[in-house]
Amino acid sequence: MEVHAVNPLVAFAYLVAGVCFILALRGLSSPATSRAGNRYGMVGMAIAVVTTLVTHEVASLPEILVAIAIGAVIGLVTARKIQMTQMPQLVAAFHSLVGLAAVLVGVAAYLNPGAFGILEPGGLDILKGSRIEMGLGVAIGAITFSGSVIAFAKLNGNMSGAPILLPGRHALNLTALAAIVILVSLFHWDTPTLFWAIVALSFVIGFLLIIPIGGADMPVVVSMLNSYSGWAAAAMGFTLHNTAMIITGALVGSSGAILSYIMCRAMNRSFVSVIAGGFGADAGGASGGGAAKEQRPWKRGSAEDAAFLMKEAENVIVIPGYGMAVAQAQHALREMTDLLKEHGVGVKFAIHPVAGRMPGHMNVLLAEANVPYDDVFELEDINSEFAQADVAFIIGANDVVNPAAKTEKSSPIYGMPVFDVDKAKTIFFIKRSMGGQGYAGVDNDVFYMDQTMMLLADAKKMVEEINKALAD
Ligand code: TAP
Repeated sequence: MEVHAVNPLVAFAYLVAGVCFILALRGLSSPATSRAGNRYGMVGMAIAVVTTLVTHEVASLPEILVAIAIGAVIGLVTARKIQMTQMPQLVAAFHSLVGLAAVLVGVAAYLNPGAFGILEPGGLDILKGSRIEMGLGVAIGAITFSGSVIAFAKLNGNMSGAPILLPGRHALNLTALAAIVILVSLFHWDTPTLFWAIVALSFVIGFLLIIPIGGADMPVVVSMLNSYSGWAAAAMGFTLHNTAMIITGALVGSSGAILSYIMCRAMNRSFVSVIAGGFGADAGGASGGGAAKEQRPWKRGSAEDAAFLMKEAENVIVIPGYGMAVAQAQHALREMTDLLKEHGVGVKFAIHPVAGRMPGHMNVLLAEANVPYDDVFELEDINSEFAQADVAFIIGANDVVNPAAKTEKSSPIYGMPVFDVDKAKTIFFIKRSMGGQGYAGVDNDVFYMDQTMMLLADAKKMVEEINKALAD
């Protein structure tokens, strides 16, 4: 077997890059250190790219530099233009590119193995080990690509977010996955038919895995695809004999898998069923949440009501959600909490792991508005405090406070842990209309509770009015 000697300086540079990536992941695990984490990531990537370019024989450096410049400009413009609420589809789009890149590198290596140094010594055949790595890389890459394209289309509204359930889909998916595993293990025979069959079947399976997943389960899917994209890159790192790619791919793959596991736990979903695809899709659609809403009485409150009752309260728990992000109400909200604190009211923020549209979405927005980290609590740390809370202030959240998740077996969010806002003495619920439902599209019993006052308005406008009333 051919052994690829690694220049110790290159190995050292890649090691430093790898350490930077680990520090980046460590930094990104808390809002307080996330900026430093991002910087470590950028430094690590710069070291990895420069080392690769200066220590490898590259066909044409100018072409590569032009490609990098084009990519950098597209990345910069996209990052500046994109709204925070569009992040999930952007992330899905990026994952699809990683998957496609892995497939293209695999195809290039298959068509021109000599250029990649993966030919058997003195022969024309591709090394057996390289064929397996290549087969795995293109398979995971193709699954990531087509799965991410479907996730993008669903999140971006280009196709319905509702589950598309093919008859016998579990048997179909399992057969296709088993076929891919068998084809990859047979690929050491190196026949072109096998290679292209792996590519084609993997594109199809990525599509089949994601179409049955709908509504509230998409966050777990996006983080799962993140993990797949990492493993695809790692497999290609073996084909290219590039240690930095193996390290980076493995870090992305394993951190994505850990994030998926954490999110599965937050959503009370099984990890295995996510990998198999189509979990939670048998639920009875957008129902659940009690009787038809138009027949049920509800109370409308005003900014003055909210200001008066919160000023009198001992403690208020704020539950932000997607609507706060849409309205960009975080700065006004911070001002409101400052005013309440001046009146001696204790204010805490309760963050659900899937509030908003991406992991950490609410944390980022609150950090942007300089809400102290000590005031921000995770679901499991604060949920028991609602029973003693004077006010639950729900601002643009919906699914994460919907008790149907606890009681309605037919609801698509059934089983997801939610905030026990119904235990608070008074609930203020900010949203724009009684018609607009949450991401999962289910009615919410909290609207109709005795202690609930609906504050129907744009979140930012409503909080600004509350602030005016508080200041007066
Ligand atoms: P949602 O359930 O999506 O509810 C958002 C609420 O905000 C709606 O009631 C909407 O009602 C209101 N709203 C929208 N724009 C508003 C505005 N300008 N002013 C005031 N209210 C506004 O939010 P959530 O509770 O944060 O739940 C998140 C959901 O998204 C979960 O189902 C989760 O699974 C899913 N999801 C999460 C992620 C991640 S990783 N976090 C990714 C994808 C999907 P109106 O239209 O009546 O105003």
